[in-house]
Amino acid sequence: MGTEHFDATAADWDRDEQKVARAHEVAQAVAAAVSLSARTRVLDYGAGTGLVTQALAGRIGPATLADSSSGMRDVILEKIGSGALPAARVWDLDLEAQPPPDERFDLIVTSLVLHHIKALPRVLSRFTELLAPGGYLCIADLDREDGSFHGHDFDGHHGFDRAELSVQLEDAGLVDVSVRDCTEYVRDGVTYSVFLAVARRPA
Ligand SMILES: C[S@@+](CC[C@H](N)C(=O)[O-])C[C@H]1O[C@@H](n2cnc3c(N)ncnc32)[C@H](O)[C@@H]1O
Repeated sequence: MGTEHFDATAADWDRDEQKVARAHEVAQAVAAAVSLSARTRVLDYGAGTGLVTQALAGRIGPATLADSSSGMRDVILEKIGSGALPAARVWDLDLEAQPPPDERFDLIVTSLVLHHIKALPRVLSRFTELLAPGGYLCIADLDREDGSFHGHDFDGHHGFDRAELSVQLEDAGLVDVSVRDCTEYVRDGVTYSVFLAVARRPA
């Protein structure tokens, strides 16, 4: 799935109340798993319209929202302009194709993005590089599903096996990996479970 789909759906993304509610549930799960403060430098990777960062606002420090879709970045910039999102940096970044910028974050949150990432080991290693020592990676994504979520021409991941992803996170140099239930995604009458995986860069 290229950026065209997300470019085309960005303007109406937030009209779907389920997406807004789910972003709040992801933010709650992140806040329950990781200690946050006004000093926490956050990268929201594959931020979409910034819903997860919006839901974390007031509990975190400086935010950077990265997305490879220009349509999504335009919505984020509008929200920053209107005050719906606090002042934040917006990055055009695709870690499958680009090396990570020379920056460090205390928390990387990435919600429903990883199943679109084909070069997963490369991107997980790049997340590790972007984390400050002791920093956390929080991944919200679909549990392994039968392929019905996107339809059978989808060339990404049909969700993730929690144990396999945990090994991949350790292979990327992260420690203290844990995975818990987070929220649900109801599509066409089918309920898909969403986990939150948490891992830490060694101090
Ligand atoms: C399902 S949306 C989730 C948006 C947001 N995180 C949320 O939970 O509301 C997936 C987002 O990931 C972005 N994305 C997909 N592949 C990406 C990549 N390789 N690099 C950066 N962003 C990507 C898409 O443009 C889209 O905005």
